[in-house]
Formats: sequence, structure tokens, C-alpha cells
Amino acid sequence: MHQTVNEILKSGVARIDAALERLLPTADTPPVSIHSAMRHSVFAGGKRLRPILCMEAARMVAGQLPRGVEDLGASLEMLHTYSLIHDDLPALDNDDLRRGKPTCHVAFGEAIAILAGDALQTQAYITLGNLQCPPASAIEIVREVAIATGTGVGGDTGVPSGMIGGQVMDIEGENQKPTAELVNAIHRAKTGALITVSIVSGGLYAGGNPDTIARLRTFGENAGLAFQIVDDVLDMTQSSEQLGKTAGKDTASEKSTWPAVYGIEQSQRDADRLITEAFAALSPFGDAAEPLKSLARYLVERKN
Ligand code: IPE
Ligand code: IPE
Ligand code: MG
Ligand code: MG
Ligand code: MG
Repeated sequence: MHQTVNEILKSGVARIDAALERLLPTADTPPVSIHSAMRHSVFAGGKRLRPILCMEAARMVAGQLPRGVEDLGASLEMLHTYSLIHDDLPALDNDDLRRGKPTCHVAFGEAIAILAGDALQTQAYITLGNLQCPPASAIEIVREVAIATGTGVGGDTGVPSGMIGGQVMDIEGENQKPTAELVNAIHRAKTGALITVSIVSGGLYAGGNPDTIARLRTFGENAGLAFQIVDDVLDMTQSSEQLGKTAGKDTASEKSTWPAVYGIEQSQRDADRLITEAFAALSPFGDAAEPLKSLARYLVERKN
């Protein structure tokens, strides 16, 4: 019998929280302000989806959870949390609520919040430098993660394919007429890239062959885009209380979102279609792909 998605999420959160607890400096380590700020945002109650996708990809490839893979997952969560701290800054989205708590800059001031984001990024690479997989895989993982979170221009598309590049397009896309092309590029870069590399790096950690890695990448790109489409829909359909972050923010900031181009119903259909495409990439893995598939289904059915 397979674990239900709730079981996968629950045990995944516990495993990742324990790794983060071990890998982050304690709150009383000097300088205490920044270490308290890092912990405030990391332990505010995220869903831990990127590390859980990473671990389940590794489990599918290796047939069991490879030893130490939670440290890779924790490094991805550090990078994700850094991106949220900076995303919420007054100069970016200017949000005061995140994961149901005051945002990092509201609680600790802007200077410490900026530095806490920076420090979570360096801590992620310290963690990656200590991974317990073969060195060649570790180097590949570091390279993939750095590209996915940077400004990199992807293949032959000529548009940024990394998270920071996506954030730049997102900010510069405010008050600009949202087009299908622009929103597709923003979403794949600002959110899709980190989700994709979470899944790909899990496969690399587990020693997956090139065909397996390519399939995981296709799965991740489709699921990652679907995830951000749903994030946009939830911003318009749920309350701040339900989301743990300010609802209705995208419309107020005239963001280039999927529903702004296609409407809410078409957006939900597009997310569902992308998940079907994601599933197709995993067909050779049969039953072993069930946990990843149930997580992908959860990405589009979630309510926060
Ligand atoms: C929110 O990500 C930011 C986006 C990329 C849309 P999540 O919805 O995974 O946020 P947490 O980690 O659960 O708080
Ligand atoms: C955030 O996108 C993407 C990154 C943090 C890289 P959003 O701005 O839509 O995320 P939320 O809605 O604030 O969580
Ligand atoms: Mg944003
Ligand atoms: Mg935001
Ligand atoms: Mg959003």
C-alpha cells in the first residue's frame, strides 16, 4: 500500500524540520539578531514542498530514501525561505504577513531581513558542500541549484530561466500589460526553476541516469508551472487567514499573473493539464512514481 499524500507530507515535514534544526545556527549564536531572524522565517510553518519533492524523487530513483538526502532537502528550503524574505521586502512585494507570522523585515527590521536572506543562501551552500553523495554528483547538484536560483538565461529561449531573473521580470512586469508569453516566462523562472531543481537534484543524489534525470526535469517543469498558476489563483480566491499571507495582493499590485491573462477557470484547467503532462514523463517508473504523482496532484488541489 502507498502512503497517502497526507502521510508523505507529515513525515516529510518532520524529517526536514529536524534537519533544518540541526543545520542552522542556534538562535543564541552571535550575532543573535540574524540567527533569530533566519529561524523566525524558516520555522514559521512552511509546507516544505520543495524538500519533500526532492526526497520523493530520490526515493523513486533509489528504491528507498538515500542516506543524508534530507540535508539536500534542507538546503533547498533555506534557499526558498531566503527568496520569500526578499520577496516580501518593501522594495519588492512589500508584504507584512508570511506563513501566518509577521514578515522578517517587520519583526527584525529591513537590514537584518536582507542579511538573513543572504545568510540563508550561504548556509544552503555550506550544506550542499557537505552532502554525503559521491563528489561528482554533489558538484552537479551545486551547479544545477546555482543556475536554477540565479539569473541564468535558458538554452535557446533567450529569457531568464532562474529564480532571481524571474523575480526581476515579475517586478518589472508590474503595471505592464500581462501577456501570455510574459507570464509564462516569469512563472517558469521565479518559481518553476527551484521546484524543478528540487526534483532533479533528488534524482542526481540518488544516482539517476541521464534519461531518468531528463524525465524528472520534464515532470518538475510542468508541476512547477502548475504550482505558480495555483498560487496566483489562491491569491484571488482565498482569505489571508487561510493563506497565511496577504490575499488579493497581485491584483492590487497589478502583477502579471496567469488569471490576469486567462481568468480563474482557465487557469485551473491549465494547471490540471500541466499535471497530466507531468505524469506522462514518469510513466516508465510505474508504481514507484505514485508518491511523486500524488504530491503533484496536491500542488494543484491545495488550498494554501
Ligand atoms: C510560496 O511558496 C512562494 C511561491 C513560490 C509561490 P509556498 O506556497 O511553497 O510557501 P511555503 O513554503 O509553504 O510558505
Ligand atoms: C514568489 O512569487 C516567488 C519567489 C519567492 C521566488 P509570489 O510573490 O507570487 O509569492 P507569494 O505569493 O508572495 O508567496
Ligand atoms: Mg513576488
Ligand atoms: Mg510575493
Ligand atoms: Mg503569489
